Amino acid sequence: MNVFVTGGAGYIGSHVVRLLLASGHHVRVFDNLSEGHEAALPSGALYKGDLMDDDRLVRGLTERYDCVMHFAANCYVGESMTDPEKYYFNNIVGGLRLLSAMRRAGCKRLVFSSTAATYGNPIKTPISEDHPTQPINAYGQTKLDFEHAMAYFASAYGIGYVALRYFNAAGAAPDGTLGEDHDPEPHLIPVILKTALGQLHEVKVFGVDYPTPDGTCIRDYVHVNDLAEAHILAMHSIEPGKGRIYNLGNGSGYSVRQVIDAAKRITGRQIPVTEGPRRAGDPAVLVASSEKIVRELGWRPKYPAIETIIETAWKWHKSHQDGYDD
Ligand SMILES: NC(=O)c1ccc[n+]([C@@H]2O[C@H](COP(=O)([O-])OP(=O)(O)OC[C@H]3O[C@@H](n4cnc5c(N)ncnc54)[C@H](O)[C@@H]3O)[C@@H](O)[C@H]2O)c1
Repeated sequence: MNVFVTGGAGYIGSHVVRLLLASGHHVRVFDNLSEGHEAALPSGALYKGDLMDDDRLVRGLTERYDCVMHFAANCYVGESMTDPEKYYFNNIVGGLRLLSAMRRAGCKRLVFSSTAATYGNPIKTPISEDHPTQPINAYGQTKLDFEHAMAYFASAYGIGYVALRYFNAAGAAPDGTLGEDHDPEPHLIPVILKTALGQLHEVKVFGVDYPTPDGTCIRDYVHVNDLAEAHILAMHSIEPGKGRIYNLGNGSGYSVRQVIDAAKRITGRQIPVTEGPRRAGDPAVLVASSEKIVRELGWRPKYPAIETIIETAWKWHKSHQDGYDD
């Protein structure tokens, strides 16, 4: 298929682009490089542009595309609480521009990067797709609002979609050539590994008084290559005019302290930690049930163990201490 990938120069998008190409698909990446890296892409794949630039988007997203994968967004819970305007503009207004360009181009398939943050504080764990959605941060709210927009665009204009609600994406390409490179880095595992390398002084733990066994937040980590496989399955499953939602996680939760301990074992390095207050918008526990995508699309994670996830990320960070060369 011809696939138009917004945000494809970012962390998850670049891994998906690599798998799409390896699976014989044709790809054009639409990315403003606000967070992404051209060096994460094969040469010639990037068509640089911003979702807010309607002309550029419409010129890029022509009728020859069979499917859009939409990764481009702002995606930090903490920042979304201090700068919600940025999140509503980019994730909602930018997303609507994309839907409108798809309608005009007659493109009928959309795979959307949604998030566990659409659920809010879980009332039961593991979380399945029928769990109530009550986001407690602006980031999750914008993703949920976009899911609702997709549903209306599906019934009115025939744009079929799959929303993939990822839990915590982590890990890196096992060959060490693609990985996570954000500045500043907000995600736990890269922060831990940069601390192990001496690039950061310490890991700040936000909240040690949560109602969890060790007081720190529990999350479900899913390998970025397993997410990539799910995107290919999702793309092939889309039916025009219909939408589906799937969770993506491994069904096992690890506390912040458990992840730090696992990283100490794997790296053999010191990882200094400081404890601070809770951060606004963080639920105590987020663990997925991904039974639905396993059952309906045959998704089988290849890298479910937290140790493998950390090992692949460690390989990337050790060999790319300054990130990508751009
Ligand atoms: N990383 C996670 O754990 C996680 C979890 C759940 C959902 N998600 C979602 O997955 C998607 C990808 O996440 P990621 O971790 O790879 O983030 P990322 O920041 O690495 O990638 C996002 C990409 O989108 C681009 N972008 C942002 N705004 C744009 C715009 N207006 N126009 C064009 N390009 C734009 C950025 O330059 C970047 O390359 C996001 O939508 C995010 O909300 C991520």
